[in-house]
Amino acid sequence: MNRRRRIYEGKAKILYEGPEPGTLVAHFKDDATAFNNKKHEIVDGKGVLNNRISEYIFENLNAIGIQTHFIKRLNMREQLIKECEIIPLEIIVRNVAAGSIAKRLGLEEGTQLPRSVIEFCYKNDALDDPMVSEEHITAFGWASPQEIDDIMALAIRINDFLCGMFRAVGIRLVDFKIECGRHFEGDTMRVILADEISPDSCRLWDIDSNDKLDKDRFRQEMGGMLEAYQEVASRLGIHNINTEHKGTGPVLVK
Ligand code: TMP
Ligand code: ASP
Repeated sequence: MNRRRRIYEGKAKILYEGPEPGTLVAHFKDDATAFNNKKHEIVDGKGVLNNRISEYIFENLNAIGIQTHFIKRLNMREQLIKECEIIPLEIIVRNVAAGSIAKRLGLEEGTQLPRSVIEFCYKNDALDDPMVSEEHITAFGWASPQEIDDIMALAIRINDFLCGMFRAVGIRLVDFKIECGRHFEGDTMRVILADEISPDSCRLWDIDSNDKLDKDRFRQEMGGMLEAYQEVASRLGIHNINTEHKGTGPVLVK
């Protein structure tokens, strides 16, 4: 039985009403999807890992003054977050050519881009999240010119922080996707980072071997997705993740 009111269910998370007004509880599911749900599997323990990795990243961003929706982790799969009005955009930051930009512009995967590039997609599953320009965003009223400026400034700061954080543990941040929301506090509105940052929403390559440590392992049917996510967590120093292993029998404790 679930006592809480369910506000929204997405592909990887469920949002419940929070304990206080203006808060929500985000529950990380084990569902792995790609190509807008055309490929869908349950990967036991993924939600637990993404909850912990996203907590680690958002806490560090909060600590350096980048405002996020994250308040605190509640348990293995849930975190308390600030309620905000999601801006219907997926903001992609790219440092290295991979995925759709490699295909679209005929770039070889792994090519360093001349500078970090920001792209916007309209968040709409039925349309497969089409790429849009600032013209579309302002003409259709998805965000104002000022909000676009705020989002880009936020995205660049996050990219700088994440590049350094991952580099320090031998990981190249190829690209990532973020979502932003409007957070209202009294009369003021601020654009803050929402959703999650995890190996589901980033491309992370081992610096030496170029091994993929992200959701491309699932998209490209490479196998070893959970192990890759575990590797990211352990390199970041996130320990004691109990991914609810399924009775492998007694383990000798030395
Ligand atoms: P792309 O190369 O497929 O456009 O993806 C760019 C980045 O955005 C990559 O890190 C994966 C992430 N991403 C999402 O988080 N959600 C999505 O729906 C898509 C298409 C990409
Ligand atoms: N997030 C999208 C999906 O779940 C696409 C992707 O990540 O590749 O289908």
